[in-house]
Amino acid sequence: MKKEAQVKYPASIRFWHWGNTLVISGSLVTVLINSTLFDGRSTRDFVQKELAHAGANVSQEQARAVVHGLEDKVWDIHIYFGYVLTALFLYRLIVEIRADKNQKVFRKFLDTLKIYLSNQAFKSTARYELGIKLLYLVFYTLLLIMAITGLSIAFDDNLGISRSLSHSLKEVHGFCMYPILGFIVLHVGGVYFAERKNKKGIVSDMINGGKMNN
Ligand code: HEM
Ligand code: HEM
Repeated sequence: MKKEAQVKYPASIRFWHWGNTLVISGSLVTVLINSTLFDGRSTRDFVQKELAHAGANVSQEQARAVVHGLEDKVWDIHIYFGYVLTALFLYRLIVEIRADKNQKVFRKFLDTLKIYLSNQAFKSTARYELGIKLLYLVFYTLLLIMAITGLSIAFDDNLGISRSLSHSLKEVHGFCMYPILGFIVLHVGGVYFAERKNKKGIVSDMINGGKMNN
């Protein structure tokens, strides 16, 4: 048996997991900055006031153009994060294709479903495990949607995507952020409680690899 197959979380999954966590967090920070700092008239008024102090009187429209430019700069960073996130997703896909049978996400889901349906286990534990696996599948689907819609918006001109379609894609993209946020809250909360209750060492396993069936 390959050494990687003996650990609970192979190095490739751990690399993807923590890389993905960092990049999604960075991406969310850019959204947060644009929806707070560069949103609304207070920033425009601030720019106008500061420039007036520096001896340059600009109109509201000119101040708005500055704020808009800054917002675009932050979106540029968001898009760079997006490229890395897409690359990480492709990497995760390759890892999944090459993974040992018992380490494949879909296979794990099917195995858990079988246990749930077999009545051989405590129903509530089996339901909980099934819920977790299902949540991962939903998350990967959302990530795929984010990558496809994000890249389509970023390259709408090159891909010949119309303004109205690009706008709709942006709405889908923006909307999908909410279930992703929901996943993160449930996931981190779930991991916290698992670590404290029945799965001690689960976070350390995601760092060190852990042992299979541990
Ligand atoms: C943006 C934040 C995060 C995202 C999107 C995320 C996503 C995921 C995904 C998709 C998996 C399943 C991996 C697989 O088997 O294919 C996973 C597993 C895991 N994550 Fe996270 N994660 C995040 C943050 C964290 C944090 C902050 C921690 C630790 C405090 C953590 C600890 C774990 C652990 C222990 C597992 C294995 C759980 C299990 O076997 O069911 N994650 N994560
Ligand atoms: C989980 C990860 C991501 C989250 C939470 C996220 C979230 C968002 C949100 C909320 C918006 C604003 C949408 C609106 O104005 O209605 C946005 C815009 C955008 N995102 Fe993402 N996104 C993510 C990943 C990506 C990826 C992978 C790409 C691919 C390159 C991408 C590219 C873009 C682009 C091009 C825009 C439009 C920026 C503009 O208005 O100029 N995003 N994103």
